[in-house]
Amino acid sequence: MDKMEKFFTTRKRFPAFSLCIHIERRNSAVHSHMSLSGKTVLVTGAAGYIGSHTCLQLLKEECKVIAYDNLDNSSFESLERVKRLSGGNGNLMTSIEGDILDGEKLDEVFEANEIFAVIHFAGLKAVGESVSKPLRYYENNINGTVVLLKSMVKAKCKSIIFSSSATVYGEPKTVPCTEEFETSALNPYGKTKLFIEHILTDQHASDNEWNCLILRYFNPVGAHPSGEIGEDPKGIPNNLMPFVQQVAVGRRPELSVFGTDYDTKDGTGRRDYIHVVDLADGHVAALKKIAKENGKCGRIVVNLGTGKSTSVLELVGAFEKAAGKKIPMKMVARRPGDAAEVYAKTDLAYEILGWRAEKTIEECCVDQWNWASKNPYGYSGKED
Ligand SMILES: NC(=O)c1ccc[n+]([C@@H]2O[C@H](COP(=O)([O-])OP(=O)(O)OC[C@H]3O[C@@H](n4cnc5c(N)ncnc54)[C@H](O)[C@@H]3O)[C@@H](O)[C@H]2O)c1
Repeated sequence: MDKMEKFFTTRKRFPAFSLCIHIERRNSAVHSHMSLSGKTVLVTGAAGYIGSHTCLQLLKEECKVIAYDNLDNSSFESLERVKRLSGGNGNLMTSIEGDILDGEKLDEVFEANEIFAVIHFAGLKAVGESVSKPLRYYENNINGTVVLLKSMVKAKCKSIIFSSSATVYGEPKTVPCTEEFETSALNPYGKTKLFIEHILTDQHASDNEWNCLILRYFNPVGAHPSGEIGEDPKGIPNNLMPFVQQVAVGRRPELSVFGTDYDTKDGTGRRDYIHVVDLADGHVAALKKIAKENGKCGRIVVNLGTGKSTSVLELVGAFEKAAGKKIPMKMVARRPGDAAEVYAKTDLAYEILGWRAEKTIEECCVDQWNWASKNPYGYSGKED
């Protein structure tokens, strides 16, 4: 962790003691002392929310990062900021505007670089849009992954870390969700995640030198403590936290709370919210696993969550405290397909990757508000 991050992370919360606490906690988060220095990593979808935070953590590890993105849902401004935050390692990152559907361009990237592993974030992620435009989702997410894998085969690059999602648990019958749970998908977006998991499983079965690390994220929230990078969704946000953020900065009049009659303490749905920096560290841990096992990881599926759930009202309360303002809310009916409570069993991630999430929901909200108040209209500074 560089000096700047320590400063931003600790300044706000525990002025006197936080520095030591924070250092201790980060050390326990990533156990492996494996060095990634000098390893080249291709990051698809790098300019996006999770990609940009992960690129920053990779630069801190002195990885050479090839940031590949078609800018469909992002801009390179995020990566310019990542360079500035990287404590002098920004020159280790090269940004390429490119599509994962463009096999020739990917082949060129693989020919020009000795790529150790791919972290594959590129994808469309709006559940509602996936219902109205399923073919766009199948083409982009599934075909795009197949094109990427074919380029990897040609280049004999056999290590991939894939962004899957807790959405593959469908409507879980019990919680916490373990990786052995039956999988299903409730919409085309979820189906793309599930199918890509199957593709990676089959690719590994066809050649067991492949390392396919499938990471199932729960609900990523928060932002880098500097407030310089964060989530910048285009259009109406799909997820709770960015919606709350947009209400807080006056971009939307109120938050609709879907369902107040669930069988939970306060009647609202409960989810597992994971800080995006913890999530980014999970990718570093996955990469270290590949490096440590000398490429013999095989196929691994792990949850990346906190193992705790927070209700909608609890999250809004924590955000209101962080922002020092009220979030107007409207209580409305449940949405079909929303389970009462979903959270992760996290033991496997700790056992296999030596990683676990450390940041609290309060920290998520403080960092989210810091990003929102500094960038109320995201990277462009303008209304969509
Ligand atoms: N944010 C979440 O809640 C969440 C939860 C679970 C899984 N995921 C998955 O994690 C990944 C990253 O999510 P995010 O929140 O950072 O989303 P994001 O939209 O911010 O980032 C995705 C990036 O991929 C790029 N992209 C899309 N299609 C591309 C293509 N064909 N070629 C090249 N680049 C392309 C976009 O421009 C964008 O920068 C996605 O695959 C998403 O499905 C996200």
